[in-house]
Amino acid sequence: MSGGSEQARKTAEGLEYLTGFGNEHSSEAVPGALPIGRNSPQRSPLGLYAEQLSGSAFTEPRSHNRRSWLYRIRPSAAHPRFTLAADNGALRSAPFTEAPADPNRLRWNPLPDPAPGTDFLAGLWTLGGNGDATQRSGMAIHLYSANASMTDRVFSDSDGELLIVPERGGLLLRTEFGLLSARPGEMALIPRGVRFRVELQDETARGYVCENYGRPFELPDLGPIGANGLAAARDFRAPVAAYEDAERPTEVLNKFCGNLWTATYDHSPLDVVAWHGTHVPYVYDLRSFNVLGSISYDHPDPSIFTVLTSPSDTAGLAGVDFVVFAPRWLVGEDTFRPPYFHRNVMSEYMGLIDGAYDAKAEGFVPGGGSLHNMMSAHGPDRETFDRASAAELKPQKIDDGLAFMFETRWPITATAQAAGADHLQGGYDDVWQGLERHFRA
Ligand SMILES: [Fe+2]
Repeated sequence: MSGGSEQARKTAEGLEYLTGFGNEHSSEAVPGALPIGRNSPQRSPLGLYAEQLSGSAFTEPRSHNRRSWLYRIRPSAAHPRFTLAADNGALRSAPFTEAPADPNRLRWNPLPDPAPGTDFLAGLWTLGGNGDATQRSGMAIHLYSANASMTDRVFSDSDGELLIVPERGGLLLRTEFGLLSARPGEMALIPRGVRFRVELQDETARGYVCENYGRPFELPDLGPIGANGLAAARDFRAPVAAYEDAERPTEVLNKFCGNLWTATYDHSPLDVVAWHGTHVPYVYDLRSFNVLGSISYDHPDPSIFTVLTSPSDTAGLAGVDFVVFAPRWLVGEDTFRPPYFHRNVMSEYMGLIDGAYDAKAEGFVPGGGSLHNMMSAHGPDRETFDRASAAELKPQKIDDGLAFMFETRWPITATAQAAGADHLQGGYDDVWQGLERHFRA
């Protein structure tokens, strides 16, 4: 382990957090830095600049309104002109028009290892997505593979919030709001427009990112489930204020309407000494998800595993859902217990964080992913079908893996690099071949 990653890991282990999703959080790194009783006093405490960061229109309903007040050493407005970055690397944005939307079932192996010196931002590789970043609708799926920490540069995404799912290696996220640790088995959520830097806690890091152009993720309604269950608001952790007082050149990369724009500041913009509000980053341990399911027969639709949802203007129709398949018991009687065969109007991208998934015996590997687009037929493979159809139905603990899904309302169009990737598996259709005819009239 390099000295840098060891330091990042030690820093990550000692972090403190605030708890509660959607709370009106507040934090100050220096006592007295946070104004009391007003947001923008004539002179802010300690000579700080007050600045509001809005994550929703000023006038959206209170239940959806998001904003934070930041008290910083320099105002964000004091920055040099942004220019287009030399290129966007392997980062792409909606609308996705490089390749036709494909009705076939697709599956990828993990990304190949990156060149030495590749940090999180340089290691982002876009698989595909939908919608239009400029219309604040839809989503993109990115993977990342990195072997270096970001140094003297920070990233912010004006196009959407970033839901980061580490699969290999821990991340130390240094944000304007403070520090977060996100290790495999956890997820991190960076709101739209929040600047952050990613340092590696291990030699390498790999994982998935859902870039949500639409309404910010929120906890799903629970309906008849009641007041508790699924992801608990109190299990989401927000950072405490921590600031960099660094007068050194720092590159700020801003993803704006699909392109990376760059400006070199003469200071670190991670200089927020105190803050309060609701537009804040979070980290959440996926294994703390309270899994609910059938205790009689059949099993519920996978929406029962929704951790966070980005609602659309149509009730119940998500722009994108983040769904986790966490360890759980299966006890259904006279029930085919793996996920059933189905065709879905929604489009499903699945990734695997650890272990195996109960509908696929092989080929779906950690760091890889599968895409089952709108109305594409899928379900258990032959081996899984045969085994589950003959299994003795005693209570069974599924605890050998952690898979997740980004499920979205619109078809996902792959990028050219994803449609033509060497790590795109050939012959994925074959997993459903050999499903024998059993019909007897
Ligand atoms: Fe599915």
